[in-house]
Amino acid sequence: MSRTVALGPLPTSPAPLPSPSPFHRSRLSRRSFLAGVGVSLVATGPLSGCTLYGQPQQPSPQGPPTQPRPSAGALALASAIPIGGGEVFDGPQVVVTQPTQGSFKAFTAVCTHQGCLVGSVTDTINCPCHGSRFSIADGSVVAGPALAPLAARKITVAHGQIVLG
Ligand code: FES
Repeated sequence: MSRTVALGPLPTSPAPLPSPSPFHRSRLSRRSFLAGVGVSLVATGPLSGCTLYGQPQQPSPQGPPTQPRPSAGALALASAIPIGGGEVFDGPQVVVTQPTQGSFKAFTAVCTHQGCLVGSVTDTINCPCHGSRFSIADGSVVAGPALAPLAARKITVAHGQIVLG
């Protein structure tokens, strides 16, 4: 139950305002109270359901799920090389392809045109500098201006790991 206190006119007020009736004060106070409760419910209702939104999740007791990773010395997991495509590895300057499932190839990633690193592999190995494209199966030129194929690189695939050499 709310309780209201009637305040008299302020001393600095030039003309005292008429004092509202007790009924009016009580009704005004109840209205204010109900309006405040309504605002509170509207404001806290949706927010209470969203209190965890945007906050970092607590780590699970088992820790985050582990993703398979290439072992030390391996270039990549075989499963990371898309079938019918490939991946470019800038560090060792090699591109690994998988033209057909389970068949892996590797080539130098240095374009034979003017020495740029190839940038992507779609259904061809693509050089971003002047648009040369090379076969993912044998490194041969599919589209110039390059004239010479990408040189093959030796890789070994064992236990799902691709190792250069
Ligand atoms: S360097 Fe690759 S197309 Fe020119």
